[in-house]
Amino acid sequence: MKKNYEIAVIPGDGTGPEVVAEGIKVLETVAAKCNFDYHFSTYDIGGERYLKTGETISDELLECLGQKDAIYLGAIGHPEVKPGILEQGILLKTRFSLDQYINLRPVKLYEGVYTPIKDKLPEHVDFVVVRENTEGLYVGAGGYLKRGTPDEVAIQESINTRKGVERCIRYAFDYCQKRNKAKKLTLCGKTNVLTYAFDLWERTFNEVAIEYPDIETDYAHVDALCMWMVKNPEWFDVIVTDNMFGDVITDLGAMIQGGMGIAAGANINPDGVSMFEPIGGSAPKYTGQQKINPIAAILAAQLMLETIGEQKAASFIEAGVAKVLRENIKDVAAGKMGYTTQEIGDLIVGYIQENC
Ligand code: IPM
Ligand code: MN
Repeated sequence: MKKNYEIAVIPGDGTGPEVVAEGIKVLETVAAKCNFDYHFSTYDIGGERYLKTGETISDELLECLGQKDAIYLGAIGHPEVKPGILEQGILLKTRFSLDQYINLRPVKLYEGVYTPIKDKLPEHVDFVVVRENTEGLYVGAGGYLKRGTPDEVAIQESINTRKGVERCIRYAFDYCQKRNKAKKLTLCGKTNVLTYAFDLWERTFNEVAIEYPDIETDYAHVDALCMWMVKNPEWFDVIVTDNMFGDVITDLGAMIQGGMGIAAGANINPDGVSMFEPIGGSAPKYTGQQKINPIAAILAAQLMLETIGEQKAASFIEAGVAKVLRENIKDVAAGKMGYTTQEIGDLIVGYIQENC
């Protein structure tokens, strides 16, 4: 029997709907080629709706999302909403509620894409960051004392549980093994200063490593790792790190792979429902102009298929993206592509229809 996937679609704010439309077009194309079915349910969630109704995401809606096979997200963010409300009320709430404890971010330089790093080629930039996605500084632990006075104290604590750290590290080892590339896993931390949190990370990493004798392990402090990501990106295969460091290093990663226009991420609950998104944000000033590169959203769809087990369909998408980046697009940045958002979607669909 044909498999049928229930997919929640959250186009969201700004340019989210434009890029999601292209991702859906590509999904429909590979579904037909690979003989599976899908059913999309679209949800109106985001800054626009928050301004109208005061609602971010309700528990009922989260419950509903929790029944799906996957969530496909465009972008959340609105210039008229105070920073923090949508991020915490929608994005982080969904990650935490659905226990999407892995944030997976591939950093891959495709042929034909400009990297600001001199002399580096696609063979040098191809690694994946496994970012812990439900703990650390992101849990919102802490508070104020005497707020607004000269004696004000602000505390923001990083929460690291053995269970949370271990499941993330295990996922990274498994992922590294399955990826089967250099079979090298680097722990990114700050053991010289954050001596409690990263002591837990390091001990757990070393203990779990014993179960994976075929994986080479390495450690780097986060500051040094930023240096090496630029100087020697070829050293990395899979990097595992905490929530905050993962947030920072993956923006750096997005830049060395060519920019936000092609960077995708997955919020994964290996035993539940995962959410896939382009990581570039809502780009409000480009809304409706067809100037944003949909490839980040299309690669998010590729990650979605890979995660739910449609490897062949995922590889078709990647082949289409690689071809269009190699042969068509002038520059991956918004407005400089030489094509509209829709035209890039069409080029990828066309390639898949003819060649896969
Ligand atoms: C990301 C974003 C989010 C994060 C923000 C919007 C809360 O920067 O997905 O990396 O910090 O995780
Ligand atoms: Mn970020």
